[in-house]
Amino acid sequence: RLAAARLLSGAGPVAADVGREEQPLRGAETGSEDKTPKKRFSEVQEERREQAQRTVLIHCPHKVSEKKFLKYLSQHGAINNHFFYESLGLFAVVEFARKESVGSLQSGTLMPHEAAIPFRSRFLSLKLKNAGGQPSEPPSVRASQQLPPSSQRLLERLCRAESVGDQLDTLLQELQLTEENVRLRYLTCSLIEDVAAAYFPDCTVRPFGSSVNTFGKLGCDLDMFLDLDEIGKRSTPKTVGNFLLEFQVKNVPSERIATQKILSVIGECLDHFGPGCVGVQKILNARCPLVRFSHQASGFQCDLTANNRIALKSSELLYLYGALDSRVRALVFSVRCWARAHSLTSSIPGAWITNFSLTMMVIFFLQRRSPPILPTLESLKALASAEDKCVIEGNNCTFVRDLNKIQPSRNTEPLELLLKEFFEYFGNFAFNKNSINIRQGREQNKPDSSPLHIQNPFETSLNISRNVSQSQLQKFVDLARESAWLLQQDGEGGPAPAPRQPWGLAALLLPSVRDSRSLSKKQNRRPASERVKSLLESIKEHNPDSPTATDGK
Ligand code: GTP
Ligand code: MG
Repeated sequence: RLAAARLLSGAGPVAADVGREEQPLRGAETGSEDKTPKKRFSEVQEERREQAQRTVLIHCPHKVSEKKFLKYLSQHGAINNHFFYESLGLFAVVEFARKESVGSLQSGTLMPHEAAIPFRSRFLSLKLKNAGGQPSEPPSVRASQQLPPSSQRLLERLCRAESVGDQLDTLLQELQLTEENVRLRYLTCSLIEDVAAAYFPDCTVRPFGSSVNTFGKLGCDLDMFLDLDEIGKRSTPKTVGNFLLEFQVKNVPSERIATQKILSVIGECLDHFGPGCVGVQKILNARCPLVRFSHQASGFQCDLTANNRIALKSSELLYLYGALDSRVRALVFSVRCWARAHSLTSSIPGAWITNFSLTMMVIFFLQRRSPPILPTLESLKALASAEDKCVIEGNNCTFVRDLNKIQPSRNTEPLELLLKEFFEYFGNFAFNKNSINIRQGREQNKPDSSPLHIQNPFETSLNISRNVSQSQLQKFVDLARESAWLLQQDGEGGPAPAPRQPWGLAALLLPSVRDSRSLSKKQNRRPASERVKSLLESIKEHNPDSPTATDGK
């Protein structure tokens, strides 16, 4: 990651985007019903997109006076919202009330003399005309946090929680994307869209994946999708009369080749003209061709794809599941964090389980509870109306999109129990013969011999975890069993650990748990007090700022 964002003041994390933005997520414990009408995924996307179009990104000198800065900018119109953050320098995100203000601001902005490539973007630099003469006001800006807390801070917070359920809730609060971070993600897409629009006016660049599916953690990558479909929809062809006019277009042998060519030119464009875009890599021969780059100013690692509508639909499905019951996100965050802490997931592609697969496993597990906590995809399809119908490349991706039409679950199991049961369930799952299938919500016979089979919910003949090796699956199973056992022990009483000693979820996240515990069978039989002692030792050895437990992915 390029950003070295300083952990300054902490803007409180919010459950951004599920229609209850200002409400903290406390009470995830039992998923108690929330009566607030929840927004559809498409509504959130449109609102956020429109908001981003009224927003600019400004690199500021550190001694900027916030008050004067805002006064200066408001010459161009009222400002709705702004915040500062540290990346490679100090940056301000400024949202105007009206889009016209951005045009006015750009008209009053100087093109630097040294600009060989004059590009009028919405990413600007603020210069102090008379630096020496600026009043000696102390730097007054509060920088909002864009990276996850350090492992140490996280562990301390977890150890201070009141119960394991409270720990899961705390982890979610600490790691989830903040309101500011969500804004910055949509703004970054919007800035990239401006560059892509040089080639394809009217194109759209949409975020997908964990930036928008409500399972994103501070520091996660920014997946973007270049949507060219709207271009075709802009004209209303006249069909009356004897003539029909059609655009001349260049033909290419296949859709894949077209996608590769489009991404290739956009990659070049970002590399040569995209302000703040560095390290552009074209990965065009991948199953899903992409352009990877770092957006230096926001600090996001970006993956730009095209022709990837199914992935956007998957993000919508996850958003829906995440919004149905407040226990879902808490459990997914903990499982993802646990997997990362034990190197079951990695930011490098390989034989590892992905966060996407882990999320599917949690959803499946919650569908299997009695009564179920989440509905099956088939039942969401049954609730769909005609306007929900969606077929992408021959795959039926229909499901109900209005969250308010789905009955909340009657299941009241607490998070603590669910976490333990999750580990127990997958610690004993018959991976050798069964496949995980969230469409049916029950195990199915595995159609092939891949160690882990999780059916792709929309392209049902595909396995989303085809890459996972037998040894990685075994590692997952071993750790799941061990974690279930640890939680079971904690639940069985014994002296309550001192507040700063790792217990419950905190103990499960320690990278050394497995190593120290799997050294010998003997250790498994040690009393709980000794176990805690060895955990404490390992936490001391553990570098507090090591990214192990809280790395981006
Ligand atoms: P992070 O690890 O936080 O980035 O989670 P993520 O959900 O964003 O995962 P990732 O960046 O790897 O992928 C982005 C999106 O692409 C996912 O949310 C899915 O919608 C989709 N995706 C990822 N992997 C697969 C896969 O193996 N099969 C399919 N069909 N879609 C995938
Ligand atoms: Mg991602």
